[in-house]
Amino acid sequence: MIRAPEYICSISPYVPGKPVEELERELGIEGSIKLASNENPLGPSPMAVDAIRGMLGDLHRYPDGSGFYLKEALSKRLDIAAEKIILGNGSNELIEMAVRTFLTPGDEAIMAKPSFVVYSMIVQAVGGTPISVPLQYYRHDLKKMADMITEKTKIVFIANPNNPTGTINNMEEMDAFMDRVPEGILVIVDEAYYEYVTSSDYPDSMQYLRDGKDILILRTFSKIYGLAGLRIGYGICKKEIAEMMNRIRQPFNTNSIAQRAAVMALQDMEHVMRSRRINEDGKRFLYREFTQMGIDYIPTQANFIYIPLKTIDAMEVYERLLRDGMIIRPVGKNEIRVTIGIQKENERFITAFKALFRL
Ligand SMILES: Cc1ncc(COP(=O)(O)O)c(C=O)c1O
Repeated sequence: MIRAPEYICSISPYVPGKPVEELERELGIEGSIKLASNENPLGPSPMAVDAIRGMLGDLHRYPDGSGFYLKEALSKRLDIAAEKIILGNGSNELIEMAVRTFLTPGDEAIMAKPSFVVYSMIVQAVGGTPISVPLQYYRHDLKKMADMITEKTKIVFIANPNNPTGTINNMEEMDAFMDRVPEGILVIVDEAYYEYVTSSDYPDSMQYLRDGKDILILRTFSKIYGLAGLRIGYGICKKEIAEMMNRIRQPFNTNSIAQRAAVMALQDMEHVMRSRRINEDGKRFLYREFTQMGIDYIPTQANFIYIPLKTIDAMEVYERLLRDGMIIRPVGKNEIRVTIGIQKENERFITAFKALFRL
């Protein structure tokens, strides 16, 4: 039988969660709540949904391969030339495109651990070596990450906020890090949760681009804009970097519905503001409940909360919550991650969580 290269065989397969309907069928439950994938609990922007309905008769047409209108809309919003924007089938695809463009077998990519699992998966898929640097106090250890740069390093990934911890690195730390990165290395700053951040100390990553750095900023319509199912994200970088990545981009990588929905979602400021407000309210409620229960949590800048359970087994907590119709994400042996939901979801989670610990 045909054999995949060793670097492919050594990738641990990504285990996708089962569809909610299937879980419910297996467990004989109904009305379960999914707080596992950091989706927007309010759903998509109604303006985006309306626009999609109006497009259904045109589905026989190929999409605009350049994503002209979405890039125009982003260009205006971000005050940056459209040629510095690249669209992806979710920001996941942009991670893959950047790695395939700039990394060759044997090259290294530095990333934090734990961080977004896709980074190491894709680096390994092209025969690169992921160099993982443990988080320090749940945040990227940017000093250590800079120390790990060698002549083999091609890419450094920084998830800011980080998934699964929800923490950020501040402006001073990022400035110091960027100063230390030698030329010829691409820094990928993944800002999937950018719109949720409330800290005044959050770095303005666009400034590094204006300073001429080789940086790729990734953002997505999957989170606050509520369009995860449509798969659309974007990258911001130098024109030359976008041009290189465009060479390996599939001509129709983003679909017509996603492009149009994203343009509308970008305009729907009310939906964004409401989503942010609900997230802040949910965050405060969950913090208060956790504090009353004596449960430690890591303060978040995103739409999810990381809970270190000390010696308690995360899989067991996951399975027991599941039987109660609550889907959360175990992210380590003793750690879980819970997406902030709407109030009644958060309340149900807390009730189930309390019952689990008999509090
Ligand atoms: C840090 C981070 N980056 C990227 C993504 C992927 O987003 P997209 O749906 O745009 O591919 C996620 C999704 O969970 C994420 O947490």
